[in-house]
Amino acid sequence: MASGAGKAFLVVIFAALVPLLYSRSHTLSTFYTNSPHRLVRVNTAKSYDIKFQDRIRSCEDAFLVEKAGLAILACDPGREKYNTVMNVVRPGPVASAELFAYDYATEVLQDADSLKKIKLASFPAEAEADLHTLGMGYDEETSTLFVTNHARSGIRIEKFKLDTRELVATHLDTISHPLLYGANSIFALSGEEILVTNDHHFTAKRSPVLSQLETYLALPLSTVVHVNLKGGEVDAHVVARLPFANGIEVLNSTTVAVASSSKASVLFYTRDGSDLKYHSEILTPFLPDNLSSAGGKLLIAGHAHMPTLAKFADSRHICNDPTELSQATAEMKEYCKTGTAPSWVSEWSEIEGLKHVYVGDEYPSSSTFVRDVDRKVGIIVGLYAKGIMVLRD
Ligand SMILES: *[C@@H]1O[C@H](CO)[C@@H](O)[C@H](O)[C@H]1NC(C)=O
Ligand SMILES: *[C@@H]1O[C@H](CO)[C@@H](O)[C@H](O)[C@H]1NC(C)=O
Repeated sequence: MASGAGKAFLVVIFAALVPLLYSRSHTLSTFYTNSPHRLVRVNTAKSYDIKFQDRIRSCEDAFLVEKAGLAILACDPGREKYNTVMNVVRPGPVASAELFAYDYATEVLQDADSLKKIKLASFPAEAEADLHTLGMGYDEETSTLFVTNHARSGIRIEKFKLDTRELVATHLDTISHPLLYGANSIFALSGEEILVTNDHHFTAKRSPVLSQLETYLALPLSTVVHVNLKGGEVDAHVVARLPFANGIEVLNSTTVAVASSSKASVLFYTRDGSDLKYHSEILTPFLPDNLSSAGGKLLIAGHAHMPTLAKFADSRHICNDPTELSQATAEMKEYCKTGTAPSWVSEWSEIEGLKHVYVGDEYPSSSTFVRDVDRKVGIIVGLYAKGIMVLRD
């Protein structure tokens, strides 16, 4: 009797799970198809180079100032010990993030001279020591740079004026608002108007368990927030909700693309004033992280295999720290030598559909891809990678 009821109960549970598993099957299939020994590698670039491996790491975001031939990078080595999105908080001192400018246009420059640190001005030393960057948004017309800062003292957005000649970013303002509780990516509509994604509703800090559930069930709870800073006020409101909103890019006057990392898809929205209306979706055979655009195409960078990325991310604080490494097990030492996490970079346009640019693990954990179409240069940066990958055609 009891076992009959038990069985019936299991049947009910199973019946409830089927649609859920079905709706998650696209994401789950990447766990199988993209496992490192099965992954089909792609590299469409004529040549590529992984640069600055000894100087910078964990550069999650990059954008180009094509006029100046510069790639601006936000690199946070502290992410190894402190990652609010993946819920990593390790004891001990945490390195802070820095901004860099890479001159990718002047080919005669020696590597040592082509990468320079951007000085932060009017930004107190203690704020600089607690800078933890994620996304950046840049309005070229006004030279306004917005940087997501997951400071230990709270999540906020820093606003700077960027001088691309002197390579100085002068701090103008710190923007915080209850609706920006988990700010990730920023797209600057102007110097006073931005779109911001919050990757989760339940941030890992609020509840690690609910945050994981939200990711694995791809619950449509994370938000896109429109922020208007005119008149010195922070006027923010939610304009869209979706699962794990990550990169955001305004494609043209009507269309906004948002990456959903947990659904392995990119969602398109139509702009309606400051509001966004869902329009359509494309599935990606990987988990998209950040978006950008160039030459009328959407550029999508992301992660091929989540379990491998999780292991890679979780070991960086040992592999990249000589003291920790010397005390690690033989197994860990071996993993530190060979371990990697496959990157996946694609481009999309309505006419040509999805085309893959780079799939592989010579350069791990791709999070953003930017491209200067005229100079035929592409740059991939990686969440937990050393250096950056430069593709030339
Ligand atoms: C992704 O890249 C774009 C620039 O291409 C930037 O605006 C955005 O903030 C980035 N987000 C993250 C999380 O790196
Ligand atoms: C904007 O981009 C979308 C997606 O590629 C396209 O469907 C739409 O026609 C474009 N709109 C304009 C005004 O170019």
